[in-house]
Amino acid sequence: MNYRHAFHAGNFADVLKHYVLIRLVRGLQRKEKPLFMLDTHAGAGAYDLRHAARGDTLERQPEWPHGIGRFRAGEVLPPGLAEYVGLVHEFNREHGGGAGETWRAYPGSPEIFAHLRRPQDRLAFVERHPEEAALLEQQFRGAPRTQVHRLDGYHALKALLPPVERRALVLIDPPYEATDEIARIVAGLTAALRRLPAATIAVWYPLTTRAGGERLEQALVALSLPPAWAVEVDVWGGQGEVKMPGCGVLVLNPPWRLDLEIEPELPALVRHLARAPGAAARLRWVVPES
Ligand SMILES: C[S@@+](CC[C@H](N)C(=O)[O-])C[C@H]1O[C@@H](n2cnc3c(N)ncnc32)[C@H](O)[C@@H]1O
Repeated sequence: MNYRHAFHAGNFADVLKHYVLIRLVRGLQRKEKPLFMLDTHAGAGAYDLRHAARGDTLERQPEWPHGIGRFRAGEVLPPGLAEYVGLVHEFNREHGGGAGETWRAYPGSPEIFAHLRRPQDRLAFVERHPEEAALLEQQFRGAPRTQVHRLDGYHALKALLPPVERRALVLIDPPYEATDEIARIVAGLTAALRRLPAATIAVWYPLTTRAGGERLEQALVALSLPPAWAVEVDVWGGQGEVKMPGCGVLVLNPPWRLDLEIEPELPALVRHLARAPGAAARLRWVVPES
């Protein structure tokens, strides 16, 4: 349990994940019915970017300058990206950051869910690391219809599904430190879909040789999955010798036609995040709608 997200907060992977997350919430909120939103690996909830280079052990280069740091307040962007960037800039300002380029705070997925929730929606944030969980509890104490659980995220899929609302958005965002992470994701997805077959489930994954999207997809072949697409970004275009040149988000049961809204926004996303000329992003159907 060494992973602390503060190092990575606001990096290109967070940009992709949180952009897609906002799109998913908005897509599901097109229906008035209450929605249950479950974050199985919630992290600390929010991050002070001034501490992003200081972690448990070694000093590192902060990653956010090549992520959120590349988006300016008020710049012209496609609507979904503009909503993401607007939300993050607002959060930064509320937490003492400058209106322009002075980055101080970045919202984690729990803060993003909390920002987008309607009065009828319910939130559950699950985190296993005691320090991160304590920060989460502190942040969301007294928040309406919001619970923080110190639990194993995969266990939470069994414990918290199906929800009374019968509609759910689940984010599975593990650190991929454990060698059995992919097996645990597959078991978790199986359990979740058994409990709520129509749940919309987003799984973040790194594109690396060690634990990439291919391995995740191969492992999922044996399941009979509902309709699913994946959005992937490769910021290095195969050029740099980096541990994680790209990442993706797999979405099961995506809101209808959301792919058509996301796809045209990807060129702007890549333009901002590219580290090398071959950088690219794509959306592809993994299990097409029948
Ligand atoms: C990538 S971070 C989460 C970031 C967060 N979802 C966000 O977007 O802001 C992964 C988190 O999962 C936690 N974690 C690791 N294994 C876990 C498990 N089995 N159950 C719950 N949390 C876990 C780590 O402590 C870490 O805070």
